[in-house]
Amino acid sequence: MLAIMKLKAREVLDSRGRPTVEVEVFSSSGEIGRAIVPSGASTGRHEALELRDPDSSWYGGLGVRRAVANVMDEIAPAVVGLDLEDQTALDAKLIALDGTPNKGRLGANAILGVSLAAAHAAANARGEELYVHLNRLWRQRLDPGESAEIMLPLPMVNMISGGLHAGANLDFQDFLIMPVGAPSYSKALEMTTAIYRAVGAVLREKDAEASLVGDEGGYGPKLSTNAQAVDIILEAILACGLEPGIDVAIALDVAASHLYNPETQTYALTAVGNDTLDSAGMVSMLEHWSKNYPIVSIEDGLAEDDWKGWEALTASLGSKVQLIGDDLFATQTARLQQGISGGVGNAILIKVNQVGTLSETLDAILLARRNGYRTIVSARSGETEDSTIADLAVATGAGQIKIGSVARSERLAKYNRLLRIEDALGPNAKFAGRGALAH
Ligand code: PGA
Ligand code: ZN
Repeated sequence: MLAIMKLKAREVLDSRGRPTVEVEVFSSSGEIGRAIVPSGASTGRHEALELRDPDSSWYGGLGVRRAVANVMDEIAPAVVGLDLEDQTALDAKLIALDGTPNKGRLGANAILGVSLAAAHAAANARGEELYVHLNRLWRQRLDPGESAEIMLPLPMVNMISGGLHAGANLDFQDFLIMPVGAPSYSKALEMTTAIYRAVGAVLREKDAEASLVGDEGGYGPKLSTNAQAVDIILEAILACGLEPGIDVAIALDVAASHLYNPETQTYALTAVGNDTLDSAGMVSMLEHWSKNYPIVSIEDGLAEDDWKGWEALTASLGSKVQLIGDDLFATQTARLQQGISGGVGNAILIKVNQVGTLSETLDAILLARRNGYRTIVSARSGETEDSTIADLAVATGAGQIKIGSVARSERLAKYNRLLRIEDALGPNAKFAGRGALAH
């Protein structure tokens, strides 16, 4: 049996220069697996808890030294000696050891670091690529006859950033493209970088501060309306000789939880105008956008607890547009099940640190898959060189991935990992393409 021999945790920095947890798991055969935990800015209320050190002056209270200490002092003694390849048992042990519903005692950052690093260590000890090992864990969960095919995901790529990621220059958080006409992952990436450069050129023509980029590498221009961001992206797509809607489609992440006031039950769109909308107003606005633009996907079109609004949005647009729950589902199977039962949304964003273990992440993907919900594996706005999510998307055949823009190395670490996987698979590399958007 391959066993966990030792854990080592430390504080390192993410792409915003904020502390985050890095964990190394040492296997009994001498191999080491390492993982670094990502961190969000537009975090939802229902996410597992990221433990920081608000009482300390270290990094202004953003330190993660308690989480690091929890790995060394509490988790290590409990998991050393466990079977490294039994991820389910390890994750169950971590959950039980924490003992809270939101992993608030030990910290989801401490727990996730151990969970992911163990998977890396197991893959390394077996001499396998991570996606091969993750695919084995994925297969173990499937019933006979369910497809366990590995597949390169269709990327959903940020072009223009707003909201909390770019100083509230625009109300919506992400204006993205999906290269739906690309025949392969590498071609999708090549098309995407051409459009990204073209968006920069269009912004410079309009004198709209194209040099500023948001947390995920998307441009953070000053524009006069939210819709102008889509117009600019469409102009860039055409400038590349590509056809909007056929070669390249548009996606939005409204991140509406951050526009919502639960007391008045209204949404404040005040970055470029001065609109206050109720749920029905938001739904009509999104219907209007979907009519006017080749939009194939809308994420968090309404707030995380606006279930009634979400029902109306899904009834109106759910048969035509992918409606992703990010803050709404928070990668939690209980919340996803509530959505499935209530006819809410038709897709789920998968963020490993929203739930805190690899096993629970796989459970969320599986529940979605079995109920016809599409899955989009996603990075956070605070990222690092860790590229685990690229392997996770491939291993589970998730179909789609959202990493941010094609700029900044914490984003490219994942895009490049996918290029390496595509290269390793050679002619066997299967690409999800436009099919990833189908039910
Ligand atoms: P976050 O943003 O990592 O800041 O939460 C990403 C997203 O909303 O998809
Ligand atoms: Zn989101």
